[in-house]
Parts: sequence; C-alpha cells; structure tokens
Amino acid sequence: MTQWLQGRVAERIDWTPDLCSLKVEAAIAPFRAGQFVKLGLASGDDTVGRPYSLVNAPQEALLEFYFSIVPEGPLSPRLAHLAVGDTLLVMPQASGFLVLDEVPPASHLWLISTGTGIGPFLSILKTAEPWQRFQRVVLVHAVRQATELSYRHTIAALADEHRQKFSYVPFVSREQADFALAGRIPEALKDGRLEQRVNLPIDAKQSHVMLCGNPGMVADVTALLKARGLAKHKRREPGQISAETYW
Ligand SMILES: Cc1cc2nc3c(=O)[nH]c(=O)nc-3n(C[C@H](O)[C@H](O)[C@H](O)COP(=O)(O)OP(=O)(O)OC[C@H]3O[C@@H](n4cnc5c(N)ncnc54)[C@H](O)[C@@H]3O)c2cc1C
Ligand SMILES: NC(=O)c1ccc[n+]([C@@H]2O[C@H](COP(=O)([O-])OP(=O)(O)OC[C@H]3O[C@@H](n4cnc5c(N)ncnc54)[C@H](OP(=O)(O)O)[C@@H]3O)[C@@H](O)[C@H]2O)c1
Repeated sequence: MTQWLQGRVAERIDWTPDLCSLKVEAAIAPFRAGQFVKLGLASGDDTVGRPYSLVNAPQEALLEFYFSIVPEGPLSPRLAHLAVGDTLLVMPQASGFLVLDEVPPASHLWLISTGTGIGPFLSILKTAEPWQRFQRVVLVHAVRQATELSYRHTIAALADEHRQKFSYVPFVSREQADFALAGRIPEALKDGRLEQRVNLPIDAKQSHVMLCGNPGMVADVTALLKARGLAKHKRREPGQISAETYW
C-alpha cells in the first residue's frame, strides 16, 4: 500500500471565511496539470483523507490546494485550521484524467467550472500546452457571490500574456455583479448568453469542453452538449466532453 508523505504548510490564503488555499512543501512524484492528490490528517488511530486538485503547475515548487470549507465535513474544516509550519499528510502519487494528454485535437478549449472546480484549470493554464494547441481558450467560473471569484490576479496575468487567445467568463448567481453573467451556466448555454459573451460557438467540430466542480452543473451541461451532438470523451471512442465531479 502507498505510504503517506509528510507535507508542511508554507503559505495560506484566506479568500473568504469559507474559501482557503494552502501552499504545501511535499516531495510528490511528477504529475500532469489537472490531476489531484489525496490530503490527509490523523484522526485517532486512523487517517481521514480526501482528494484535492493541484492548482500549481507541475513546474512550480510548492503544491497548491484551493478548497471550500464544508462546515459539517470531516476533513475540510480541519485543513482550514492549519497554520504556516503545520504538517499534513500527502499521497505521493497524483491521479486523474482531467488532463490535456487525454484531450483529442480541437481548435477551441472550454474550461467550465463551479466553485473550487476552477483549481485544475488554473494548473493547466499555467503550462505552455493549451497556448500551443488551441486557437481559443475560454475559462468559465461560476460562484454564488462575487467575492468567491478567487485567483483574479492569476487570471489577469494569463489574460495579459495570452490576450489574443484567452477569454474569462465569470458567473455570479446570488447577487448582482455588472462584470459577470447572472444565473447558472446551463441556463446561459441554453439561451446563448455564454457563447455570445465570447463570440464563439461550442460545436462538435471545433470544441473540446472540460467540466469540473458541482455534479449538477456537470450533468446539466453534459446533457445540453450531448443534445448538440458532442459526446463524452473516451480513449477508445474520442469525444468532446471531459469531466470531473467533486462530490
Ligand atoms: C477528484 C476530486 C478532486 C477534488 N478536489 C477538490 C478541490 O480541489 N477543492 C475542494 O474544495 N474540494 C475538492 N474535492 C472535494 C474534497 O475531496 C472533499 O470532499 C471536500 O473538501 C469536503 O471534505 P470533507 O471531508 O470536509 O467533507 P465530505 O464528507 O468529503 O463532503 C461533504 C459534502 O460537502 C459537499 N462538498 C464536497 N466538496 C465540495 C466542494 N469542493 N465545494 C462545495 N461543496 C463540496 C458535498 O455536498 C459533500 O457531500 C475533490 C473531490 C474529488 C472527487
Ligand atoms: N458559497 C457560499 O456562500 C457558502 C457559504 C457557506 C457554506 N457553503 C457551503 O459550501 C458548499 C458549496 O458551495 P459553493 O458555493 O462553493 O458551490 P456550489 O453550491 O456548487 O455553487 C457554485 C456555483 O454553482 C452553481 N450551481 C449549483 N448547482 C448547480 C447546478 N445543478 N447546475 C449549474 N450550476 C449550479 C451555483 O449556483 P446557485 O447559486 O444558483 O446555486 C453557484 O453559482 C455548499 O454545500 C455550502 O453549504 C457555501
């Protein structure tokens, strides 16, 4: 059985009272942008462990995790109590298929997320590959409140660097925010607001869509895209939709 490694918190960011990032020193095996590792904390004689996406790119020295505090959850409130210098457990081997290696050729890459599901897409966007492979890259991030649109500096730096190719579309669902689309992603796909916003249609010929976060969003968007002729991607049956749900 794989053994846990000991990691050490090197930095923490408190985005809101419910959203936190930890930067962690731990010598894990090489991973691909978009993958996740298990984090753990001792619980009596046992360990409570959960998967978390790596937000850092593979070339960055510190591991970075972005998480939501689920008040009644067994692990996330405890992770949120860790301070710089504290230790935690990290599984050395990353896993997951929400990676560009698994994406067949396409012209346009759509990265569609809710909440903390933006994490693996930030890792992917900090690598060279999406900018070499795709003509357009659209990052969609839906949250309840505008303050939950974390990593705005990272996203602004990507937009500066890749002005011709990159579009960022925030959604804020539970308050008015002039700069963001209102409501939920599936509704905006249905009524055309999402594609109008970036002047780019999603279609089976040109697009590949990666989805991450809330399982309801993933299911609803997948159903809408299937109705337009896109299919789930499988190694043996290439398609245009790749997805990871967080619960
Ligand atoms: C492949 C994978 C990668 C993941 N990566 C991340 C990540 O990068 N960041 C992250 O915050 N979580 C991530 N998760 C979820 C994470 O593993 C935990 O489930 C979460 O942190 C809550 O842990 P918990 O032990 O406190 O509660 P749990 O018992 O694990 O969950 C309790 C409930 O909380 C809700 N919930 C779980 N995760 C989230 C979430 N992210 N946002 C909103 N509600 C949630 C669900 O309703 C769930 O049933 C990932 C899950 C999977 C399967
Ligand atoms: N965010 C907070 O203010 C807050 C505060 C305390 C605790 N929490 C806890 O954290 C957990 C997750 O909250 P979160 O805000 O990170 O994630 P979330 O509930 O997944 O919401 C993130 C975004 O996804 C949208 N969404 C939810 N279900 C959807 C679906 N079926 N299809 C399409 N879009 C969907 C939400 O829209 P809607 O707004 O329309 O749902 C919101 O815009 C909750 O269990 C909650 O108890 C959250």
